[in-house]
Amino acid sequence: MSINKLEDLRKRRAEITLGGGEKRIQKQHESGKLTARERINILFDEGSFVELDAFVKHRCTNFGMEKVDAPAEGVVIGYGKVDGRLVYAYSQDFTVVGGSLGEMHAAKICKAMDNALKMGVPIVGLNDSGGARIQEAVDALAGYGKIFYKNTIASGVIPQITAIMGPCAGGAVYSPALTDFIFMVDQTSQMFITGPQVIKTVTGEEVTAEALGGAMTHNSVSGVAHYIAQNDEACILEIRRLLSFLPSNNIESAPEYFTEEDLNVVDESLNTIIPDNSNKPYDMFDVIGAIVDGGDYMEYQPYFAKNIITCLARIGGKSVGIIANQPKVNAGCLDVDASDKSARFIRTCDAFNIPLLNLVDVPGFLPGTTQEYGGIIRHGAKMLYAYSEATVPKLTLITRKAYGGSYLAMCSKDLGADLVLAWPTAEIAVMGPQGAANIIFRGEIDKAEDKAATRARVIQEYTDEFATPYKAAERGFVDDVIEPAFTRSRLIDAFDMLASKRETRPTKKHGNIPL
Ligand code: HXC
Repeated sequence: MSINKLEDLRKRRAEITLGGGEKRIQKQHESGKLTARERINILFDEGSFVELDAFVKHRCTNFGMEKVDAPAEGVVIGYGKVDGRLVYAYSQDFTVVGGSLGEMHAAKICKAMDNALKMGVPIVGLNDSGGARIQEAVDALAGYGKIFYKNTIASGVIPQITAIMGPCAGGAVYSPALTDFIFMVDQTSQMFITGPQVIKTVTGEEVTAEALGGAMTHNSVSGVAHYIAQNDEACILEIRRLLSFLPSNNIESAPEYFTEEDLNVVDESLNTIIPDNSNKPYDMFDVIGAIVDGGDYMEYQPYFAKNIITCLARIGGKSVGIIANQPKVNAGCLDVDASDKSARFIRTCDAFNIPLLNLVDVPGFLPGTTQEYGGIIRHGAKMLYAYSEATVPKLTLITRKAYGGSYLAMCSKDLGADLVLAWPTAEIAVMGPQGAANIIFRGEIDKAEDKAATRARVIQEYTDEFATPYKAAERGFVDDVIEPAFTRSRLIDAFDMLASKRETRPTKKHGNIPL
């Protein structure tokens, strides 16, 4: 081969690698962002990334675009290893025509998605884009349409992870919204359907881009995003961490990471974690920290619907998805947001063969017109549906309250829990003693001379009789009542026993979850 051809190849590649050039790279850095290629280098194990389609060019000739050179078409795609496992990725390059998406830019993303699906491996999208390339008109819209379609086809087959690391506006937000996990970077990323200018024109409302669609807004208010990171590097390292909990596809199991810890640990602190007064809160994170490997868990939507905790962790080396009521927030009541958050998480875990652990301390559904008008019936039904539909191992541990519909909604035996364990502090009944006294003992209390004393007595009787795990255990709804100190070793044993679980469902086109 002539040396000229080699030099030509090297020159072409060097130009492409420089993206939009030094000036724009500097601007990118000054705005607190890394470049598309710097991000890719953090995502993948050192030296493992292989770029595809670097030489792709756009075909647009409108509005002077024929004179615009767009290196790599504004998006870097390819594959590499994360902790030694194959992963596909695309990373939009804001230094090239603002990372805007035209026909060929979209075609590159679609190629990465198609390959990920064929190979059965996760796809990670690093988004930083001005949206549809305005000069490409309907070709750009068609590009988005194809991506949405492929997101949907790949849903539940391979994990799809998106990071928003810059602007993401208009219909462009819908590709991330169709993926399983959305990360956002604080202060440098925004997602919205219509921006502040349009909102001001149409409704007169004034709002900043950050307040409208910044990372904290979507992590704490809208529930659109699942994770927030302080900067690009932290965000990508968290994506690597998330991947460690996930299998490559819906047929495989998540990788196991064995620990050196004593698997038969006895943790006496759990014997006293539940306060004597049943209405006093405690922190469910203390329970989670005591039962998972190394006390390490990765919370999903930590700032949204804090009355329910959802997190990924490992127990005995195996990935588990934990859904836990948080007595510290609204007494752990279920509401619209908690139902949405947990139903989505349950389905994500089930799709990717991650067993479920449900930690139950729930007094009921949150009462009130806000909840009823907000459709708590429809949203709460999502939890029932998601748990009933899930075929992964389902293990429920009742630590304290498990009342009424919320007892069922947190995966009771009847919703298909494979194993239900309870601590001696568990209270399983149709409703709490106070509420029950008002209904079934109302006549007796009304007739009594000392109403207060009678009320206290019947509440105590009800508590002794029903606010225990033993009535449920008598019927086999609770498989065992265990000493809290032994919880971790019992869970390790239980997940080991359940590992070979196989359950099938009747053939159907698809179910009809209440949305
Ligand atoms: C073409 C674009 C572009 C776009 C940015 N650029 N967005 N080119 N199409 N959508 C170009 C700019 O012209 C500029 O080119 C370079 O990218 C960097 O942009 P700046 O404006 O200099 O950067 P900045 O000041 O940081 O502002 C970023 C921005 C702004 C807020 C994203 O560029 C912007 O408002 N862009 C338009 C956003 C938008 O309305 N997109 C369409 C959304 S609707 P030069 O050559 O000067 O460096 C949509 C529909 C999808 O996406 C529908 C799917 C169904």
